[in-house]
Amino acid sequence: MEFLIAPSLLASDFSKLGEEVKALEKAGADWIHWDIMDSHFVSNLTFGPPALKALRPLSSLIFDAHLMVEKPENLLLPFAEAGADSITFHLEACPNPLDLIKKIKALNLKAGLSLKPNTPIDKALPFLESLDLILIMTVEPGEGGQTFLTEQAEKVKILKNKINSLNVSTLIEVDGGINPETAKKVPQADVLVSGNYIFKSGNYTTSISQLRHCV
Ligand code: DX5
Ligand code: ZN
Repeated sequence: MEFLIAPSLLASDFSKLGEEVKALEKAGADWIHWDIMDSHFVSNLTFGPPALKALRPLSSLIFDAHLMVEKPENLLLPFAEAGADSITFHLEACPNPLDLIKKIKALNLKAGLSLKPNTPIDKALPFLESLDLILIMTVEPGEGGQTFLTEQAEKVKILKNKINSLNVSTLIEVDGGINPETAKKVPQADVLVSGNYIFKSGNYTTSISQLRHCV
């Protein structure tokens, strides 16, 4: 069992984003996770389409945009034009996700749905068959460096069972407080997002490899 690894740029050195993305690709990362925050859905404010567009030519990795924003519908086209490969929005920001999922797919992007820790997994199950990706938050969205919420692991197990019973190829991505120890608690996941563990490790290649092979 090997995980795909998606380093979160939120924990990177913002003074050299281009070098960081190139170093992550060289170190074996599979995706680049972009934490997009609008200071409304979460209090933090990070990057927008121009930053992603600037880095697009520097890497062939999948740019995985995690929209922690109040009005995700306003950002689909800008992020598609900037070069995002997948757009994940929050169910809590969009009670009727089907329309947004269709719009993302019409832009030829992968469509993902994310759940905050307090949102029950059964709220997302009706949309599973139309989703390429489900992002399970294992911390409260808004900041990196938080502690993994162990009880969220149950959602990943339920989700995997449902994906298997529906025989769909939806990927499970987990995000928040991920390191080789906490990743062991979510063995059914396909993609691990990790910020502080990778960027504070001092060696991107080793930390990515340890995450990839930790179960
Ligand atoms: C939190 C973000 C996560 C976070 C992960 O709102 O969605 O992607 O940056 O960072 P770590 O791995 O440090 O918890
Ligand atoms: Zn994220």
